[in-house]
Amino acid sequence: MITHKQRRTEKGLCFKHYFKWILCFSFTLYFLVSFLVDHNQEDLPLSPSSLSRPNTLLTNPKTKFIASHVVFESKIHDHTLIFPPQRPNIRTDVFNNLKIYVYDLPSKFNTDWLANDRCSNHLFAAEVALHKALLSLEGDVRTKDPHEADFFFVPVYVSCNFSTVNGFPAIGHARSLIKEAIELVSAQYPFWNRTSGSDHVFTATHDFGCCFHTMEDRATADGVPRILRNSIVLQTFGVTFKHPCQEVENVVIPPYISPVSLHKTQKNIPVTKERDIRVFFRGKMEIHPRDISGRFYSKRVRTEIWRSYGSDPRFYLQRQRFAGYQSEIARSVFCLCPLGWAPWSPRLVESVALGCVPIIIADGIRLPFPSAVRWPDISLTVAERDVGKLGEILEHVAETNLSVIQKNLEDPSVKRALLFNVPPQEGDATWQVLEALSKKLHRSAARRSNAFL
Ligand SMILES: *[C@@H]1O[C@H](CO)[C@@H](O)[C@H](O)[C@H]1NC(C)=O
Ligand SMILES: *[C@@H]1O[C@H](CO)[C@@H](O)[C@H](O)[C@H]1NC(C)=O
Ligand SMILES: *[C@@H]1O[C@H](CO)[C@@H](O)[C@H](O)[C@H]1NC(C)=O
Repeated sequence: MITHKQRRTEKGLCFKHYFKWILCFSFTLYFLVSFLVDHNQEDLPLSPSSLSRPNTLLTNPKTKFIASHVVFESKIHDHTLIFPPQRPNIRTDVFNNLKIYVYDLPSKFNTDWLANDRCSNHLFAAEVALHKALLSLEGDVRTKDPHEADFFFVPVYVSCNFSTVNGFPAIGHARSLIKEAIELVSAQYPFWNRTSGSDHVFTATHDFGCCFHTMEDRATADGVPRILRNSIVLQTFGVTFKHPCQEVENVVIPPYISPVSLHKTQKNIPVTKERDIRVFFRGKMEIHPRDISGRFYSKRVRTEIWRSYGSDPRFYLQRQRFAGYQSEIARSVFCLCPLGWAPWSPRLVESVALGCVPIIIADGIRLPFPSAVRWPDISLTVAERDVGKLGEILEHVAETNLSVIQKNLEDPSVKRALLFNVPPQEGDATWQVLEALSKKLHRSAARRSNAFL
């Protein structure tokens, strides 16, 4: 959507600064090499049942870990080296000259966690991807002068303390780590106190967002930390009704799925291959759900799916982990995305990216970037109470409008909007976040004071 004129101007600028191209080329080479290294060493993709906390350790072979640790070491020592200034080909003028300052916090708040390479690849890793993406935007949206910033990004990674018992992130420390980061920036800079944090931006990529607890009853009892309540939170959790975990200015963002793993999956799928699985789901399906303080996993929806369709030949339902599950999604017509503990699921992103029609079963879910992704056109929503009728519902769709939905799903802009790239690309998830922030510029203290100049 870049006009020819803009393109020419950009080109002119680039030729004038041709030495930048040499720099650019070296960085591209650097990225290509590190991409290839990362690519080869990438951890097995998380099983889609990762939201369901089974008691199995995730595969993280020691050898891989050590090798990629070395790669990360060399990358994280110098910010300017990992995230070199570059001009991503994205049109930033649409953001109304939005300027973001990214706090340079001590590494214990963020990059130290990257020593475990799962930290930047698992389903909660949008906190990492977005930080990297913003840092790569230097000179465009990202400013190094906090005095001209509209928003302040506080990069705290809270999802990377993987439990040695079950392999899942322990987020008990999230509140204190964030509090500590806020105390630090409010002591060292004048900007937090100026607005009590209302132009400060955080990520909370957990089940229940900035309530920082996996179980809804605990999450809602704890609520949003008081210290965060004035700020803007980018979170994967969102519902259409009033909920204590979104009692804060927020933007719903997609869960993180590695663009590299998707690319790898797509590369291995023959273009002409028919989708031979009708209805697909792989993940935790409890046959006898446990009562955990009055709550049942997936509100028993998954149990009902298993009970009703476990032996139905149209349904391919699997309860075990399988590293190659993305290729199964790519082979499927309908992909079930039922709630787990929280309504959202990484399957939403994977289904869309791999062209499988997402069947959303999570009452009241608020989906990411509704202006960029017209969810009703590319997915189906089935009420939790209707899960026993899934068979008929999907048959009906197959006979009527399935091909329309599949056609809508082919739109590349829809897939792009759900993925975080580094550097960001026009229309991708980071771009959508920037656009959402550009609609909140009334919160910018810098802009309010400049208005009087
Ligand atoms: C990681 O989680 C464990 C268990 O919840 C906790 O005891 C520990 O303090 C956490 N580590 C850090 C560095 O926050
Ligand atoms: C901001 O307020 C806190 C709490 O009142 C105070 O400790 C801190 O010194 C203030 N920061 C600045 C930069 O004045
Ligand atoms: C397809 O049909 C179903 C009803 O069977 C309807 O709920 C849905 O909105 C339709 N979707 C599109 C994109 O036409």
